[in-house]
Amino acid sequence: MPSMTAGSCTFALFGALGDLALRKLFPALYQLDRAKLLHADTRILALAREPGDEAHHLGVIEAGLRKFVSDAQLEPEAVQRFLARLSYVHVDFLDADTYVALAEKVGDAEQLIAYFATPAAVYGAICENLHKVGLTERTRAVLEKPIGHDLESSRRVNDAVAQYFPENRVYRIDHYLGKETVQNLIALRFANSLFETQWNQNYISHVEITVAEKVGIEGRWGYFDQAGQLRDMIQNHLLQLLCLIAMDPPADLSADSIRDEKVKVLKALAPFTADGLTQQVVRGQYIAGYSEGRPVPGYLEEENSNTQSDTETFVALRADIRNWRWAGVPFYLRTGKRMPEKLSQIVIHFKEPPHYIFAPEQRLQISNKLIIRLQPDEGISLRVMTKEQGLDKGMQLRSGPLQLNFSDTYRSARIPDAYERLLLEVMQGNQNLFVRKDEIEYAWTWCDQLIAGWKKSGDAPKPYAAGSWGPMSSIALITRDGRSWYGDI
Ligand code: BG6
Repeated sequence: MPSMTAGSCTFALFGALGDLALRKLFPALYQLDRAKLLHADTRILALAREPGDEAHHLGVIEAGLRKFVSDAQLEPEAVQRFLARLSYVHVDFLDADTYVALAEKVGDAEQLIAYFATPAAVYGAICENLHKVGLTERTRAVLEKPIGHDLESSRRVNDAVAQYFPENRVYRIDHYLGKETVQNLIALRFANSLFETQWNQNYISHVEITVAEKVGIEGRWGYFDQAGQLRDMIQNHLLQLLCLIAMDPPADLSADSIRDEKVKVLKALAPFTADGLTQQVVRGQYIAGYSEGRPVPGYLEEENSNTQSDTETFVALRADIRNWRWAGVPFYLRTGKRMPEKLSQIVIHFKEPPHYIFAPEQRLQISNKLIIRLQPDEGISLRVMTKEQGLDKGMQLRSGPLQLNFSDTYRSARIPDAYERLLLEVMQGNQNLFVRKDEIEYAWTWCDQLIAGWKKSGDAPKPYAAGSWGPMSSIALITRDGRSWYGDI
């Protein structure tokens, strides 16, 4: 087994006092350190625009760590080791002069990782200023989403970055690709011949991908209202999941082999016709309702909201892939805020057996389903038909699970957060779990037609009560095809 410990590097985190850094990135770096996966010489530079006392800013980061890492995992020795790696540097992202102090801190470190946890609008300026102080040649650039808000703006950002960083040193984050079960999709599909032989329109009737969140906007109204659920979730996370389910087997596990196959899927996504836009796509916005038995406000009543907004907080749609493997197999995608539970799951519905010999009244439940649960309770379950036990049961069928629950099966192991995996991969220089420029652009091309269609129609999103599974029309979307959302619920 090769060592998993990353090589030594200097990790420069732009936007170090922001929500993402405090909530996810520092805790992930800490967990890597605690697991002894950081090189002893690795240093972490927290970069932010806030001037002032270093000790104060480091205190904010430490407080974040203590808040977002569970007590059981805050081991005093590991915390001390981690804090000793940290220093704070004040950098005004747009002011080249302030990068001089950064360059001094980096010194002659051989490997710099520049993580951009800032709005994408400043990525170009950060790259240019890093270049001015001689910090681009030995650097990997990590870009957070969202990269742009449509194809044109994402090209602008990517082109600005490309002036200073070749594609093989650019790591675009989609944190869903770092989730353990998402990576398991590759193992499931390509390490088991059992599934791959069935993985096409001859055996699969349709696929569902649901990414539901219980939370609302969580103080992020300003950002979210500019984006909406299509840009925030479908353009990246759900389309990446769709690609991993739909892609052809790659020739090997190299980043480009996998990305080439994903791009083929994105290119094959059918555009929406004018009818398709009204029949196959549902936009929703939550109104006041209940979450965990407590009343919660609607989207337009959230803190700092603009009461006129027609931004969607829910999208359900039917996507079709125009190729031999998937012709006639709809992919139903659904994602929303303020749903009854946090649930990310993919359900592969297999077709009925071609010749049915059991009691007619049981026919409806006969198809096999492969349920891939990303969160919570990560695991994979295959629903198969068996016979009920007992002399009195005749040939009565029952549908039961063949189950692989990751947390039970690997009981001793903590399931790492997606960012831990992704940060480790960047440090090791592996691009497999990052998104290539053309993937982003094909995904935008497909989403842009929806955005344009919505703009043209001027229709407001359909209301749904907080704590429900979305507007009624999202149920009609799938029942129209003679199906229902799995387990709804
Ligand atoms: C982010 C979105 O990319 O993913 C958020 O910007 C969303 O709006 C989050 O809440 C969901 O991630 P997870 O890992 O909690 O499913």
